[in-house]
Amino acid sequence: VPGEGSPEAQVMIIGQAPGRNEDMLLRPFVGASGKLLDEMIRVAGLKREKTYITSVVQFFPPKNRQPTDHEIAICKPFLEKQLDIISPKIVVLLGSIAAKAVIGATEIMKHHGELVEDKYFLTIHPSAAVRLKKNVAVIRQDFEKLKEIIKEKV
Ligand code: URA
Repeated sequence: VPGEGSPEAQVMIIGQAPGRNEDMLLRPFVGASGKLLDEMIRVAGLKREKTYITSVVQFFPPKNRQPTDHEIAICKPFLEKQLDIISPKIVVLLGSIAAKAVIGATEIMKHHGELVEDKYFLTIHPSAAVRLKKNVAVIRQDFEKLKEIIKEKV
């Protein structure tokens, strides 16, 4: 599942790995998490087609398990190439796998809603909010903060 979006995107969004729906349609974030992500993109005042959306691991991990460190390492050059080509102003890291793979950040729950190194915005993965309803308010608040950051920086 390759990334998709605008080559001129100022905001790039990075998830964990495609799920079954994404694997079938060969597009990122088209299942239940994608529906919530689309809503959050609107909360941040953006349009999906003006962003660029991809994932750390760009294939469906068998049985929908978490990607391994080895799989993350194999996909890293493809992720880095996309970051290079798009060269976004803001990179939204969805969840701990993305935060760790891109900036080595751990303990996302301590730092969600924060901009790191003036570029990387940390938030939870939408699937965490699909699984646990109370997280919907958490991700929504983060994307409201992102809206302010975008107004200031983009
Ligand atoms: N979750 C992800 O992290 N990426 C996708 O493409 C879909 C769901």
